[in-house]
Amino acid sequence: MHAAIVMDGNGRWAKQRGLPRSLGHRAGVEALKRTVSAAPALNIRWLTVFGFSTENWSRPAAEVGQLMALPQRYFQSDIARLEREGVRVRVIGSREGLSRDLVRMIDDAQARTAKNDTFFLNIAFNYGGQADIVAAARRFAEEVAQGRADPMDLDQQAFASRLATCDSPPPDVIIRPSGEQRLSNFLLWEAAYAELVFQDVLWPDYGAEHLKAALAAFAARERRYGAVVADDVLAAG
Ligand code: FPP
Repeated sequence: MHAAIVMDGNGRWAKQRGLPRSLGHRAGVEALKRTVSAAPALNIRWLTVFGFSTENWSRPAAEVGQLMALPQRYFQSDIARLEREGVRVRVIGSREGLSRDLVRMIDDAQARTAKNDTFFLNIAFNYGGQADIVAAARRFAEEVAQGRADPMDLDQQAFASRLATCDSPPPDVIIRPSGEQRLSNFLLWEAAYAELVFQDVLWPDYGAEHLKAALAAFAARERRYGAVVADDVLAAG
């Protein structure tokens, strides 16, 4: 089972408490830790979380700086545990605009966990679904221009293999807390058959119980992938 989460609501959580937004984001890191810990027991093997979108650059510079510090905060406290517990960490998204220190830390986290295969954590950071689709198209066009690929070879599978998420199955469920009901440029291609679950909790309050409730909502859905279910085939005669 692959679950994907838009970690939303840090700012509102802080505002409700009269705190600066930066403390909402820090509390969001704690929620991420709780969620990663809870996931394996709920049968989740792939977890993809949205940490920074390409659109987030338009926030005030001070807040962008605070958001940029979050991966470091997370890895510094948790990378040893993730490594030990068999978690493979991948940071998907563009490295453009990230500081050299941050890129080094990301590379280090990925390298340290590269051989793990118990659980797969993808952190979408400086990621945008449209930008990722454009990057995949460009990659394929370059291969064609260099004579290494034939346009006739391009099908959905070949295209998906050029996306940042190529190593994970498509998400079964995309969860968005905080009451917003949008994808906000998250996993656009990959979302084709995902169930969408929206929850009213703000991300810094998120934990095992919320994840469990989201999966219960997912389990209650009937997934048809564009087909009809057997009973309907019989009823249609
Ligand atoms: C959206 O809340 C959240 C973000 C832009 C940052 C998400 C990051 C984390 C939850 C921390 C963990 C991240 C990493 C990379 C380890 P918002 O600020 O848009 O909240 P609002 O909609 O209430 O203002």
